[in-house]
Amino acid sequence: MKVISTINEIKDLLTERKKEGKKIGFVPTMGYLHEGHLKLMEECKKVSDLVVVSIFVNPAQFNDIQDYQKYPRNTERDLKLCEELNIDIVFLPSVEEIYPEGPISTLKMRIPHLMDKLCGSHRHGHFEGVIMVIGRLFHVIQPNVAFFGKKDYQQYLIVKEFVKELMFPIEIIGVDTVRESSGLAKSSRNARLNSEELEAATLIYRSLKIAEEYCRKKATTIEELTQVIQEVLLTSPLIRVEYISILNARDLMEIFELKEEIFIGIAVYVGEVRLIDNHIFKV
Ligand code: PAF
Repeated sequence: MKVISTINEIKDLLTERKKEGKKIGFVPTMGYLHEGHLKLMEECKKVSDLVVVSIFVNPAQFNDIQDYQKYPRNTERDLKLCEELNIDIVFLPSVEEIYPEGPISTLKMRIPHLMDKLCGSHRHGHFEGVIMVIGRLFHVIQPNVAFFGKKDYQQYLIVKEFVKELMFPIEIIGVDTVRESSGLAKSSRNARLNSEELEAATLIYRSLKIAEEYCRKKATTIEELTQVIQEVLLTSPLIRVEYISILNARDLMEIFELKEEIFIGIAVYVGEVRLIDNHIFKV
């Protein structure tokens, strides 16, 4: 496994590999790897000749400096996990390498119909920061295929749209959320929860499954379903709800009736830690 921290070096190496006709698979991450990331890497390995994993905590996508500073990091452990999975290249750039002029860019890229809702309306500038770094990483690595987790379903749809709009010749593949046995979605942020908060956080997925059951048992409305979810979440005093949104799963557009494939997205604070999850099902 090669660990590379400069753009020039990784570009040179990948140019050589591409000349040999190798299919490049890419898994962008912010490190503090967990089974969700490992699943992305495994899926990537299945369809690629060479797998590149990037580890970069992207300052441009944090609207809260404290959240950026507190984001968990453990590069040594991450590299060990990548090594065990036989990853070919880990790209580990510095902030200066990706943002030589600083992480605040003059270019603002927006996809309003996907960005102005859910996390986008609560974390201003977050998705602009995500597509900025993804655009730069795609230019550097020029993968044939890239993998994103569906826990961040909104991000996955935004990246797909971004790639389509800018005609990047890259296939975007979404991978299902990996969960703890308690149902809690794997997330690097879970490391910041104490044992009581971990217990409370299991209510997130529980509320989503209860909502699905509720929907199947009786005809209901979006307002009523939102209320059902809220009641489950608020059985813990440690949870503060940021949003519960029920939308069309295909394009995250507003719906007025519960029919076809629906998406329920939730963001909560458990103590100080912000967690998101979602559930998609047909009714
Ligand atoms: O999902 C993440 O970990 C990040 O948003 C990503 C895609 C690596 C961009 O920084």
